[in-house]
Amino acid sequence: MQVSASAGSTGPAGPAGTEAVLLVGGKGTRLRPLTVNTPKPMVPAAGVPFLSHQLARLRAAGIEHVVMATSYLAEVFEPYFGDGSDFGLRLEYVTEDEPLGTGGAIRNVASRLYSAPHEPVLICNGDILTGLDIRALLAAHTTSGAEISLHLTRVADPRAYGLVPTDADGRVTAFLEKPQTPEEIVTDQINAGAYVFNRSVIDTIPAGHPVSVERETFPGLLAAGAHLHGVVDSTYWLDLGTPQAFVRGSADLVLGRAPSPAVPGRRGESLVLDGARIAQDAKLTGGTAVGGGAVVGAGAQVEGSTLLAGAVVEPGARIRGSMVGAGARIGARVVLDGAVVGDGAVVGADNELRGGIRVWCGAELAAGSVRFSSDQ
Ligand code: GTP
Repeated sequence: MQVSASAGSTGPAGPAGTEAVLLVGGKGTRLRPLTVNTPKPMVPAAGVPFLSHQLARLRAAGIEHVVMATSYLAEVFEPYFGDGSDFGLRLEYVTEDEPLGTGGAIRNVASRLYSAPHEPVLICNGDILTGLDIRALLAAHTTSGAEISLHLTRVADPRAYGLVPTDADGRVTAFLEKPQTPEEIVTDQINAGAYVFNRSVIDTIPAGHPVSVERETFPGLLAAGAHLHGVVDSTYWLDLGTPQAFVRGSADLVLGRAPSPAVPGRRGESLVLDGARIAQDAKLTGGTAVGGGAVVGAGAQVEGSTLLAGAVVEPGARIRGSMVGAGARIGARVVLDGAVVGDGAVVGADNELRGGIRVWCGAELAAGSVRFSSDQ
């Protein structure tokens, strides 16, 4: 339902402290087939739905009230996270009738926020793994007096991102979406997907229809003379939008390179959830995560990969930088390198799958039917 005035009381008596909005309604098309049955923020990273890491980090930063803006597969969030008390949070969920885009989604939750017009509200994309100092972002927002502050990070190749150049005081001077030519690449600072909005600014976003905060709200406010402030924080940052990035992020969580209070176990070469069975001579390295009920057979080697719940890896398989969906079966001696295997798929013995290949949910690949090399 779209939130109407009656759906959320305006100005409920919430706890003191900054509240947050999590944008979790995207279709996650780049992550398919992992997002066919599961919305991107619920795909497990280091053994738990990715969102668990974000919620734990929000709580650690002193946030108490979080509103989730849901759309795609919206029904799965609340049964898992409930009222948020397991995380020490008060969680609310708002579902859009039609996807409203990032800006429309923020506007659509406004009636659930209790912040006063001049107070800050933290907004986070639901697919960013970062060590961002959230308290420092909020403090910088207050100090600068900006209407909106943006977390910016620096990347070597900014072509896939939105560039955000700033002046010497950190004031945003432009928004440049996905620049291609060298002339357009005027900075290595990109929009890192976390913002602080003054509550009053949220209320100015047009309600009830799709709005992109990146392509419409930010450039529009800048053109209208608003003060937007960029905060460059170059700690760990990864956009988990693609399978390769998601697998990397999960491995970094397991290895302890990415910070999260929600990793369910000790950091190290691998994380094996309760109920998984690993053959004694199987090797799990590079931050591999193995979900509950998964099985890894004799002599199998799994490096920097994620095996979701109930996945089966048969003897002698070699898996690197790959993601194996829930209940999928990887046959004996299969090689996976940079591959994604959807939920319930079956990869028959002796296949060799590399370089970004995506095996769809439930697909069945006959034994020995795909190779990238000619040696066998
Ligand atoms: P792709 O389809 O692979 O681009 O992924 P995506 O759908 O998640 O889009 P994108 O990565 O650009 O989204 C950034 C953040 O905004 C993610 O956390 C999404 O969940 C969220 N988001 C995107 N569109 C919507 C929407 O229409 N409604 C809501 N509530 N959230 C959205």
